[in-house]
Amino acid sequence: MTTGSSPWPREAGPLLLRAPRVGDAEQVLRFRNDAGVNRFMVHTHVDPDDLRRDLVEAVTSPTDHSCVAELAERDGEVVAIGFLELRRGSGQPRPAALEEALIGYVVDPVHAGQGVGSALARGLLDAAFDLGARRVVAACFADNPASVRILEGLGMRRERHGVQALWHAELGWVDEYEYAMLASERSVPRSRPLS
Ligand SMILES: CC(C)(COP(=O)(O)OP(=O)(O)OC[C@H]1O[C@@H](n2cnc3c(N)ncnc32)[C@H](O)[C@@H]1OP(=O)(O)O)[C@@H](O)C(=O)NCCC(=O)NCCS
Repeated sequence: MTTGSSPWPREAGPLLLRAPRVGDAEQVLRFRNDAGVNRFMVHTHVDPDDLRRDLVEAVTSPTDHSCVAELAERDGEVVAIGFLELRRGSGQPRPAALEEALIGYVVDPVHAGQGVGSALARGLLDAAFDLGARRVVAACFADNPASVRILEGLGMRRERHGVQALWHAELGWVDEYEYAMLASERSVPRSRPLS
């Protein structure tokens, strides 16, 4: 597992996925706490200072490879944020390789429904495998049809339906789907790192 190196920048369809910069926080904050976004997030409010700190730390973290997505046709506007976290597989002895990757994504609702989420998720999956992940996992609310389409479109396998597995501040207990793909199941990558 290449924990020290960054998988960014990377082209993914119409997107440039790159490491966050300090100034990105304000653009991400425009949509991260949007009500439509929070409908499908366990963390229904993100503290702006926490987000600013997390973005800066992701640049040097060996395990947090979060990125931002720029839309080239919008002059590099940040339209989404992607999460990629390396972690140890359950039950592994320490020290053990960070062989599992968790991916996630949030798209600015202004740019939803235009393929941004699909392209970003593809880039995250490819980046995770390029980092050496043996297994990539993702999760979504069971009633999040767009995210289900994205994860199943990537070819990820639905491995768990957690009934009332997550607490949402406004909805109460909600069902969760968990998805996974092994490196051995990876299809041809459709995003590519930039040198
Ligand atoms: C879910 C989310 C990532 C989707 O991003 P997006 O850019 O709109 O997704 P895309 O345009 O790539 O569409 C993906 C698929 O979902 C479908 N879709 C989009 N919105 C939909 C909706 N409201 N209902 C049903 N299907 C929908 C699209 O038609 C597409 O299907 P296809 O692959 O068959 O063409 C985005 O809406 C978002 O960030 N939502 C809030 C936060 C969130 O849910 N994050 C994911 C947590 S797991």
